[in-house]
Amino acid sequence: MTTYFNSRTPALDGIYTALFLASEKIYAELKKGAGLKFATSSNESGDDQIELDVIADEAFFNALKTDNNVRYVVSEERPGLNKISDGPYSVALDPLDGSKSALVGIPSGAIFAIFENAETDADFNGRNIVSGGFFVFGMNLEAYFADGDKVYKGLFDGTDWTVMPIEGGLPSADVLAINGQNQMVWPEWLQRHYASLLDTRGGTVKPHNMRWYASMVSDMKRMVLQGGLFAYPSANIKGYEEGKLRLVYEAIPMAFLIQAMGGASTNGEQSILEMPVEKLHQKTPVFIGEKSKIAAVEAARKAGP
Ligand code: AHG
Ligand code: MN
Ligand code: MN
Ligand code: MN
Repeated sequence: MTTYFNSRTPALDGIYTALFLASEKIYAELKKGAGLKFATSSNESGDDQIELDVIADEAFFNALKTDNNVRYVVSEERPGLNKISDGPYSVALDPLDGSKSALVGIPSGAIFAIFENAETDADFNGRNIVSGGFFVFGMNLEAYFADGDKVYKGLFDGTDWTVMPIEGGLPSADVLAINGQNQMVWPEWLQRHYASLLDTRGGTVKPHNMRWYASMVSDMKRMVLQGGLFAYPSANIKGYEEGKLRLVYEAIPMAFLIQAMGGASTNGEQSILEMPVEKLHQKTPVFIGEKSKIAAVEAARKAGP
């Protein structure tokens, strides 16, 4: 008998069961080496798709499409609001995150956000999210998520899930997972104030390790376990003017999880969970991590170049 996770209501239990089941199917495909090559298609964000992007999207969609508590499904790999029923909950998905990294063996995963009473694109915002987090398709199949204000981690042993609360809040570490250190011009306001992101515990600036897995779920798993700062800024380069990560199904669920652990988030000016949503696939600069580092980012943005 496979056990899943008991949420707060039977409606949410059903949605979690569907998500956990789909993650098992995707993980089994990945372990067989299935889908690890480019497809001929691309998605709403303009990303080239690998075959596993499509396999993962279909696994989640098929698991959710018969649930009459699900109103809409939103996915990186599909356009628009996909109507399922008149139920109360909508599920936004990044069905395979870090898909290009999966091609070279870096752990990928899936990101999910459950929104209550969403009716329009604009309703898929940080105030309506009730649960969210991610699966890691790595050495093991794992889950890290916030269900309401409680935070859990899950491990699948091939038959059952063991899900337990994450105690102790967000750790603190001298680690910066920052994109744009290399191939992108960082925004001037951040370049100028970079030193302010570094911890000065004990009065001296501490050396910081740089980490960038190009797989948000991998960078966020390290964030949950060790703390630090994750940053994907916008850049004055074509296609990156609003950053690269998508607000609804990457930034909001990750911000929701890390804020439930006592961390913080910003787009440079306001919490990601406070941002208005215009379009389902809109992009945003993303800074998520320890409160002190997010405060430093917002101070740098205010101070300007
Ligand atoms: P996805 O595979 O769902 O399109 O997401 C990839 C994202 C995210 O996982 C990661 O943080 C970022 O893209 C990496 O971007 P770069 O390739 O520009 O480093
Ligand atoms: Mn993609
Ligand atoms: Mn992604
Ligand atoms: Mn994806």
